[in-house]
Amino acid sequence: MSERKLGVGLIGSFRWAEKAHLPGYAANPRVNLVAICDIERDRAEAMAQRFGAKRIYTDHREMLKDPEIEMVDVCTPTHTHLPLSMDAIAAGKHVLCEKPLATEAEPAFEAARAAARKTVRTKLGFTFRYSPAIRQIKTWIADGTLGEIFHIHGFEQNSQFLDPDFPLRQVPPGADRNTLIPSSIIGYGSHLVDLMRWLGGEFGSVASTMRNFVPERVVRGEGEHRQKIMVEDGTAAVVEYTSGTQGLLQASYIAVGNYPGVEIRVYGSKGAAIARLIEEYGVAETLWTAEAAAVEFRKVDLPASHYAPGTTVNTPWAELYYRNLVRHFVDEILDERPEECTFFDGAKSQEIVDAVIKAGFERRWIDVPGTAP
Ligand SMILES: NC(=O)c1ccc[n+]([C@@H]2O[C@H](COP(=O)([O-])OP(=O)(O)OC[C@H]3O[C@@H](n4cnc5c(N)ncnc54)[C@H](O)[C@@H]3O)[C@@H](O)[C@H]2O)c1
Repeated sequence: MSERKLGVGLIGSFRWAEKAHLPGYAANPRVNLVAICDIERDRAEAMAQRFGAKRIYTDHREMLKDPEIEMVDVCTPTHTHLPLSMDAIAAGKHVLCEKPLATEAEPAFEAARAAARKTVRTKLGFTFRYSPAIRQIKTWIADGTLGEIFHIHGFEQNSQFLDPDFPLRQVPPGADRNTLIPSSIIGYGSHLVDLMRWLGGEFGSVASTMRNFVPERVVRGEGEHRQKIMVEDGTAAVVEYTSGTQGLLQASYIAVGNYPGVEIRVYGSKGAAIARLIEEYGVAETLWTAEAAAVEFRKVDLPASHYAPGTTVNTPWAELYYRNLVRHFVDEILDERPEECTFFDGAKSQEIVDAVIKAGFERRWIDVPGTAP
């Protein structure tokens, strides 16, 4: 293992950076947190002081000239993810970007190709891939413990946006406000689709239904009044995998329950597993399994080696998963390990989300294009 430290520069130092990304760098002995960039100088200054970054910038183009920075983390609002990532790739930096990379699949595939041409590494911030419980299920599928996989069910549902006065995070600039605006299927669904694809392989076809349940909401950055806005706050989809596995998927902003509200159920010919990534009573997640010969589900406690050093199942979820994600990306770069959870995976997730949205609007089965690298 190399003794070298990886120089990191973060763009966008607000709530999510404070809660998830920056604790990941501060805790990792292989990271040199070189700089923080935010268009709001006081945010960059406050975070640099708190997490020990050496320099601050207010223009990412200036930060990208900094030779000490080898990896750039994009933790800004959605519509800026793609242009900031493309600038970082063009500057020859490895890039971690928050999801979604883009609001359409093709530009996300193009970003993956641009990174390949520059031979820089990428990672999409699919937080839940770095859940110890999910990684254990991945191992059980790969080593045959669960047998042939028949069903995969994925949910991301919590009550974050049940209260109409809790500001809606983002409405894409230029969205047509006279029709349903896909939202939970993009914000939550992109994670879920990625998890379901990572565990079960490529999606073949999808059918779906999307709805607006809470008709008036406060929108972040648009004042404190409620406005009529037809945001999709619940989607349910049926999935046919190319392998023949059946899938069910639901994204909801308004299903009562705690964060992050992710649940994955996998049923195979030999056994089944259920991961509940729902923080309750100080525990971030639980994993359950059953066997064909012993059908009652039992709780599984994973060994300490499944967790990033210093974390346990009692660590708050955002920090638990992000410390693991950062650890994986830093080790992949410094030790030249195989890539995982890349921009290509982000583009594939986007391609599937697009198909789910199309199926919902057109009320019919849609084949997923199946774009190759
Ligand atoms: N992976 C997850 O589970 C998860 C959870 C929560 C949020 N997120 C994502 O994380 C991202 C950040 O969310 P947030 O709630 O912290 O805040 P946010 O998206 O509102 O803003 C982040 C910061 O970026 C700064 N910024 C905007 N444009 C910039 C630019 N061009 N250059 C430099 N700085 C710029 C803003 O000033 C702000 O301080 C969003 O994309 C959000 O969707 C992901």
